[in-house]
Amino acid sequence: MESILGALAGRSSPAALRALRAVLDRGGYERTLVIPAYRSHERYPFQDLVVYWRFYVRRRSEAFLVAYDPTAFHGAFRRRYPEAWILYTLFYLILPVPEEELKTVMSGEELQLLAGDGFLCRHEASWRSLVTVSPFDGRYFICSTFYDPPSSHVFLGADSMILSLYMKRELKGRAFEEGLDLCTGSGIQAHTLGAFCRQVTGVDINPRAVGAAKSNALLNGREMTFLQSDLYGALEGRSFDVIASNPPYVMLPESLQDVRYAYGGEDYGLEIPLIILKGLDEHLRSPGVFFMVTFSPVVKGEDLLRRRLAELFSAKEYAVTYWITETFAPDRDVEFYAGHGLSAFHLCLVKIEKGRPFSLRARGPDIALRLCQWKLPFSRGGDNRRKKEVVARA
Ligand SMILES: C[S@@+](CC[C@H](N)C(=O)[O-])C[C@H]1O[C@@H](n2cnc3c(N)ncnc32)[C@H](O)[C@@H]1O
Repeated sequence: MESILGALAGRSSPAALRALRAVLDRGGYERTLVIPAYRSHERYPFQDLVVYWRFYVRRRSEAFLVAYDPTAFHGAFRRRYPEAWILYTLFYLILPVPEEELKTVMSGEELQLLAGDGFLCRHEASWRSLVTVSPFDGRYFICSTFYDPPSSHVFLGADSMILSLYMKRELKGRAFEEGLDLCTGSGIQAHTLGAFCRQVTGVDINPRAVGAAKSNALLNGREMTFLQSDLYGALEGRSFDVIASNPPYVMLPESLQDVRYAYGGEDYGLEIPLIILKGLDEHLRSPGVFFMVTFSPVVKGEDLLRRRLAELFSAKEYAVTYWITETFAPDRDVEFYAGHGLSAFHLCLVKIEKGRPFSLRARGPDIALRLCQWKLPFSRGGDNRRKKEVVARA
């Protein structure tokens, strides 16, 4: 446990981080992004075709992909990129790797540095990683493994990558003085902001996230400030030109509410996103721009976030753009959600420009996304039929 704390406490030695970076660069770890990360339990026929095309033809991916069977891609990837595969086994699948295999991707000295710094531990004649590492956009992000407790878990999900790509597109060609990444986690949005802002600050309530974000800044050779803070708590009197946030935004039953990176609180999981939105009056400069990825719960047929955005901003100078990228029904605890009248979640990217007349523009998924998300009218598993029955009653 001590060694896990060492790796996620921002106390990693620069030598160990340099060794980690060298090993990942040499082994082509960025390539592993093309391996679909999640299993899809629905029939998304076009999505699987897109995955095959990206994997076999384009050989490149920018965000986590969902496929019917991710393991179907493992053999082909392993044959094509044996070194990246070993690193994927170690740092993504978190499986033990025999020492002799590991020595094909790192020197004995690098192994000793990583073990000494709490990244790797012995597992009989093999080695195991105590952290995950996610590659994205030419950078690497150290996070928790799923052996870490949910209350202090440092998590980087596909939603963060989607937000980062969206921000890069929207901010292209612009330059700012100060940026803030609120609920920074691994620090990924701070890195995205770093390309557009002279100074970047990231805050998170979880001390391990602050530690991981500091290590990730060093690992990627960036200078940024990371602070422990309950939302804007440590930022009194400070304001920023750009604020980005991937907050916890999921409505969860009581038994899962200690999953701090996901549980968004009351109001169907919107409590934390709404505190962040209300803080823009004080903490976002004018003109200034704000980005967030969040869920909007669909309650008794109404898109709740849309209503809250109109309530909060219609009498003020904020131009709000609201892009629904995906809609899905809960696939766990379906009775809990149905009992609250919740039938679906929209995954939304929100952009808010301060200092402009109020407007609220909503966009649905574009055609390519819609094709990928189109579901065949029958489900893969018995569970899905049950889910549809329950959700239909909500
Ligand atoms: C969905 S995660 C996003 C992490 C980050 N964007 C990434 O992908 O690495 C949400 C983050 O919000 C943090 N968080 C939860 N409640 C918070 C609060 N009240 N104040 C600040 N951060 C909070 C969690 O610790 C977690 O790191």
